[in-house]
Amino acid sequence: MSNFTLTMIKPDAVSKGLTGTILKDITEAGFSIIALKLTSLTLADAQRFYSVHQGKPFFEDLVNFMTSGPIIAAVLKKENAVENFRKLIGATNPDQAEEGTIRKKYAESTQRNAIHGSDSDENAAIETHFHFAEREIFSFL
Ligand code: CMP
Repeated sequence: MSNFTLTMIKPDAVSKGLTGTILKDITEAGFSIIALKLTSLTLADAQRFYSVHQGKPFFEDLVNFMTSGPIIAAVLKKENAVENFRKLIGATNPDQAEEGTIRKKYAESTQRNAIHGSDSDENAAIETHFHFAEREIFSFL
């Protein structure tokens, strides 16, 4: 799976109409979109997706935010996708993100930070199957 990563455009960015702009940034950076949907997370979904953060002070706010509106989920293909995509989106805290990164351009705060990118190949696989059935993933694209 090292050529794949999972992204979510978060409710802050979707509600501001940034979906098309961000997908354009992603494809212009050389990623192929091989799965894509406009969807939403239930509270149970968000608690499961972010279970690694359970117990942290921001956990409840995070799941409330991530269930507050629609999201875009997508699987992206590129060589060394996880690392390359995390470079494209920038640091979790947009104040610390490099100029030109997606979070620098569009994020409001550490929590409302516009976009998610998997942090490892293992999590990319887990997160891909969280959002997509095999028939929704077009690896040849
Ligand atoms: P992401 O890296 O996509 O997945 C975990 C999310 O938790 C992260 O984006 C932020 O939205 C949120 N998060 C991480 N650290 C903090 C923090 N210190 N305060 C608030 N939210 C956080």
